[in-house]
Amino acid sequence: METIKTGPMTRLEALALIAGDLKRVEKIIGTDTVCSVDAVTAIGRHLHSSGGKRLRPALLLLAAGACGADREAAVRMGAVMEIIHTATLVHDDVIDAAEIRRGSPSTNQKWGNQVSVLAGDWLYMQAFSLAVRERNFYILDLLIDLTQMMVEGELIQAEMIGRIDVTEQQHQDLIHRKTACLFSVCARLGAILAGKGEEVEQRLRTYGWNLGMAFQLIDDVLDFEASETVLGKPVGNDLKEGKVTLPLILALRSCTAAERHAIETVVREAGYATAPAARVLEIVTKYGAIDEARRHAMDYCEAAVNSLDAIPDTPYKRALASAADWIVNRES
Ligand code: IPE
Ligand code: IPE
Ligand code: MG
Ligand code: MG
Repeated sequence: METIKTGPMTRLEALALIAGDLKRVEKIIGTDTVCSVDAVTAIGRHLHSSGGKRLRPALLLLAAGACGADREAAVRMGAVMEIIHTATLVHDDVIDAAEIRRGSPSTNQKWGNQVSVLAGDWLYMQAFSLAVRERNFYILDLLIDLTQMMVEGELIQAEMIGRIDVTEQQHQDLIHRKTACLFSVCARLGAILAGKGEEVEQRLRTYGWNLGMAFQLIDDVLDFEASETVLGKPVGNDLKEGKVTLPLILALRSCTAAERHAIETVVREAGYATAPAARVLEIVTKYGAIDEARRHAMDYCEAAVNSLDAIPDTPYKRALASAADWIVNRES
């Protein structure tokens, strides 16, 4: 297993360290999303089989490996975190009226909003029922706070929809809630399951949070730059949904009145009929806003890697450090 002794790791090398455990996570997700109501099982299968990067359980397993945590518990909690993530995506797609998720029709597209909301609720509860098996109130508290934080993120996002005067600070608070906290809890759980104590737990918490912030900023950048086939969801979608993300926040500071008008038009029309996507891309590129957003993501990644300093050097730690690279350089 430990063929890599030093230096950075590729994503594949890092995932090889936890390949067996990730398979067990998949198995739990497969059996634990079966319900006596067929629609829920069908939705569980649909989401399970359409892919997803499984980044959150991977992070948890690597953190658990770095801390020497019990593998069984780490696998179970990996499944819990992926199921929570999936539930938030099901609800998010209802809220955003998204048509595509993971390269397939979204749950709401296939089963409608009513069924999807209920299936999302069911998935949340299934994740909690699995988590209760740890018999650990500290973990349950953490998961409850996290889930409420993510719901608050969606509520704040709903209030900000269609507003192009969003500040960098407001946007940062939003991505903290909707994405970074989940990453943070995943990394932190590695230390908690190993009983590592406050210091290591806080370091992994900071690591996961910074990684999550970077991940969401790159997600926002990919919405401008990626191809739909590679990304598995539509591009140019954020602005169409009325979401002003960091590249646009930065460009709006320097752009001309005509450029601002073009951006407002996309939001007002909820589409690119009058002001094409290429025009918006031209604006954010012209002001170097994509590069700057990427630089912000890299700063978060650097902070993530620095917070691993006091963690003993193992292949797992090196895998965690290199995760920062693949997050910045990912295409999907
Ligand atoms: C999507 O997360 C939601 C965001 C935080 C941007 P992922 O891009 O990790 O989604 P999957 O699980 O791989 O589909
Ligand atoms: C992220 O929100 C999803 C959650 C963290 C719930 P977005 O709406 O930006 O994510 P995508 O683009 O639909 O994946
Ligand atoms: Mg969405
Ligand atoms: Mg997005």
